[in-house]
Amino acid sequence: MQHKFRLGVLGSGKGSNFVAIADAITAGTIPAEVAVVLSDVESAGILTHARERHLPAHFIAPGKFRTKLDEDAERAFVTALTAAKVDLIVLAGFMRVLKGDFLRAFEGRIVNIHPSLLPSFPGLESWKQALDYGVKYAGCTVHFVDAGVDSGAIIGQQPVPVLDGDSAETLHARIHAAEHALYPKCVAAIARGDLSVSGRRVTWKKA
Ligand code: GRF
Repeated sequence: MQHKFRLGVLGSGKGSNFVAIADAITAGTIPAEVAVVLSDVESAGILTHARERHLPAHFIAPGKFRTKLDEDAERAFVTALTAAKVDLIVLAGFMRVLKGDFLRAFEGRIVNIHPSLLPSFPGLESWKQALDYGVKYAGCTVHFVDAGVDSGAIIGQQPVPVLDGDSAETLHARIHAAEHALYPKCVAAIARGDLSVSGRRVTWKKA
């Protein structure tokens, strides 16, 4: 049997991007399977969504820090992802910064989605940053993960207009909807082997 491209999905929250990816797999638009879903939050919606789909889903306690994994937790995540034989790690609302040993274990094989047009507005509540700054276009970015915060090579971006009457909530909702189209498209391109990477430049071999 042909090897299926295996995804390890990490999230801390609702899991709507995970749902978009899982639905795209079911619809046949991403040639991959979800090997495992992991969360640092025991009650995270992403785990519920995964279990409803009968996919392996585990909570791993993150340890004593607030914004990163401690050493034991990092080891537990790496062990679970290695055991699941993942080809790609998909961060879908994972709220902790990944560090050295984790990044080294999966170099070039971790992607993230961020709710802004990077390099503008990295970090938290980017849609609010965009609204306060007064940009006319916000959006979302899928990128490879490196040692920085939201700083890796950009795979795809989707602009979203900022409307005059927007609140942080309405803009966030519009960005979120754009994410649900962009992330499956980018993961599908990786699974198909349609991307080539040269330094920071990511080229799509096919449209
Ligand atoms: C998304 O807005 C994503 O850009 C950010 O975290 C959020 C996750 O949302 N990294 P969900 O859990 O996929 O609904």
